[in-house]
Amino acid sequence: MAPIAQRPRGTQDLLPDDQPYWDAMRHSAQRLASSRGYQRIETPIFEPTELFTRSAGETTDVVNKEMYTFLDRGGRSMTLRPEGTAPVVRAYFDGGLFTERQPVRLFYLGSFFRYDRPQAGRFRQFHQFGVEVLGAGSPRLDVEIIALAWQWFGELGIKGISLQLNSIGDSACRPGYRAALLEYFQPYISTLPADDQARFRRNPLRLLDSKEPQTQELREKAPRSVQYLCRECAEAFDGVRAGLEKAGIRFTLNPWLVRGLDYYTRTAFEYWHESLGGAQNSIGGGGRYDGLAAELGYRDTPGTGFALGLERTAELLRQSGPAVYAMTVTADAGLRERIVQVASGLLQAGLAVEVDTSDDDFGGKIKRAARRRARLDLIGRLAEDGSPMIGLRNMSSRNERTLDPADDVQRLVCSELTSSGIQR
Ligand code: HAM
Repeated sequence: MAPIAQRPRGTQDLLPDDQPYWDAMRHSAQRLASSRGYQRIETPIFEPTELFTRSAGETTDVVNKEMYTFLDRGGRSMTLRPEGTAPVVRAYFDGGLFTERQPVRLFYLGSFFRYDRPQAGRFRQFHQFGVEVLGAGSPRLDVEIIALAWQWFGELGIKGISLQLNSIGDSACRPGYRAALLEYFQPYISTLPADDQARFRRNPLRLLDSKEPQTQELREKAPRSVQYLCRECAEAFDGVRAGLEKAGIRFTLNPWLVRGLDYYTRTAFEYWHESLGGAQNSIGGGGRYDGLAAELGYRDTPGTGFALGLERTAELLRQSGPAVYAMTVTADAGLRERIVQVASGLLQAGLAVEVDTSDDDFGGKIKRAARRRARLDLIGRLAEDGSPMIGLRNMSSRNERTLDPADDVQRLVCSELTSSGIQR
């Protein structure tokens, strides 16, 4: 008999093998954000549709093509949240957070929904780690959040990320830039592919991140937003660049970075990773959205934030394997307990740790660790004299150290990772 249901297209099951990566991402996000004064917020999975049409923008792909919208039994139009910024802004006002000391620093971990064409790295249900800082407009806060995401990638041991940065101005200077773009592209527009003609009509800024070679060639000589910034926006952008330089965070100025949601003002940024490839190389993004609160009918309130995609980050983690593969190859209950304790400490520290609790023999477990591409094996076993010991094996150098279970094993594992360049 055929099964009666299949997993919906664009969704995935997170199986036990996936969990070490997801645990590492979530623990690390929670720990980093909380230690920097960010408080957790959770908003509903669905919201009134208007919240998203008004914030993301009527002309964006997210609103036009990708929303899961339905009428509830009371005939109200509801939408599964495609993103978290507008709901958090709504909750900031609904929950009275605007009366607290400003700025308010918030973070979230949760699932989001976009009816996109599924492909590698693109899902219809996906997860984000996001932060929003509301109630202050200082460029220092843009630097703070950019650095926070940077630290998260660092803690997870992900290398090869590039930070793309741009400023797209605000309601004072963007109209001038928009007009300049309209004028520049107008003579060529009938020669462009139909999709880009439509983008041009909806929002000329959208042409800048077109994937069409012809449009990409044209944009080389197009006016750039940074040339059109008003004094306030230009100063803010100087502040962001100087802050990043001071923090030692390298960035690439990208005049074509315009983001796929309409609420951004001034700073816009994305984190790219080349191994994700193609259209899905953005592992996260964000920026400032000083006009969003007013657009939603609330008091004018500046804000800045980012969201990082957990599916894409998990893929990068999977490509390099878990940081630690922990096992015991003896029935010694105390040692088993010690290994589990160390593993959970490492997990809390944001490392991807897999604990092998199978009944396999030593050879079987070691083979599985290699197949999973673990960087370190942590092996609880008995020494020749029968006393319990922990082996710490570096899988690339093949060196093994012997540790006493009473040692500070967690610290020794971390320093082994650092000294072998696996972790920050
Ligand atoms: P976004 O660029 O639309 O920004 O999404 C952020 C990240 O979520 C992307 O870089 C990607 O990693 C992940 N993502 C988006 N769509 C999908 C998908 N269909 N499948 C898998 N991953 C996906 C926002 O959502 C803004 N709310 C970010 C923000 C926060 N701006 C200010 N505050």
